[in-house]
Amino acid sequence: MATDPSPVVSKMYYVLEQYSIDEEVQKVHSRVMDTVSSLSVKGAKIHSTKMGIVYRETKGLLKASTLGKYGMVLAMIAKHFAPKMTVELGTCIGVSAMYIAGGLESANDLDYSLVSIEASKSLVDIAKRNLHKFGANDKRCKLVNDYFENVLPKLSRENTLIDFVFVDGSHTYEATLQYFNWLIGNMRYNGIMMFDDIRWSQGMFKAWKSIWTHKSVGISVDLGGMGLCVVKHDHPTLSKKHFSFHI
Ligand SMILES: C[S@@+](CC[C@H](N)C(=O)[O-])C[C@H]1O[C@@H](n2cnc3c(N)ncnc32)[C@H](O)[C@@H]1O
Repeated sequence: MATDPSPVVSKMYYVLEQYSIDEEVQKVHSRVMDTVSSLSVKGAKIHSTKMGIVYRETKGLLKASTLGKYGMVLAMIAKHFAPKMTVELGTCIGVSAMYIAGGLESANDLDYSLVSIEASKSLVDIAKRNLHKFGANDKRCKLVNDYFENVLPKLSRENTLIDFVFVDGSHTYEATLQYFNWLIGNMRYNGIMMFDDIRWSQGMFKAWKSIWTHKSVGISVDLGGMGLCVVKHDHPTLSKKHFSFHI
């Protein structure tokens, strides 16, 4: 890494190498585990990629959540890159939102906003309770109960600048590229986009390939289950870097 001139790449490597031993991130992880340990959901509506609207109990909802190492990576990115504006597509019961909120609280700059979008009202209600129990700052962490298809075009028209995006909604080729296309124009230079489940299906992997080869993406990291991009737009000195760092 000493020979790489990009501080963002060096920082990204640090984040990926250290996430599991960072004490603050470990504490965030324990708090997330404590929060969901007593969760009991009999049946909450969720928009499933394969089955449309279905009802899931606690076990199914936790399975759909980013609990564990990828959650810790989200916390680590939030802590070290200190994004001012973070957007999450797909709140579910708020697990990834808790990791991000915990990481943001550990960053030196506490002037942040986290906006997480979810179509299911019952999931938003559960996520709200979880975030409250976790101790997230409810003025800075907002849950939006709506479809991405309603919120994202509006966000795009408003020219909101985004520093960090976690895309974890419908896992199809078409939907993932649509989310990317809606968001890319709003990404700040050096903004980070993370895509969950890039190996979930052939369509998801094809979408990931279109994303990391996109002209606006300067640095991309294949984490195995997730894909991470640093947006450079069409910066004149752009030279693309693509890494694999399976965690
Ligand atoms: C995989 S889960 C999100 C998990 C969460 N990010 C975590 O890791 O804890 C995907 C969520 O996206 C929501 N969803 C799917 N399609 C949506 C859409 N078009 N608009 C809004 N929410 C949607 C689903 O209801 C589901 O709760």
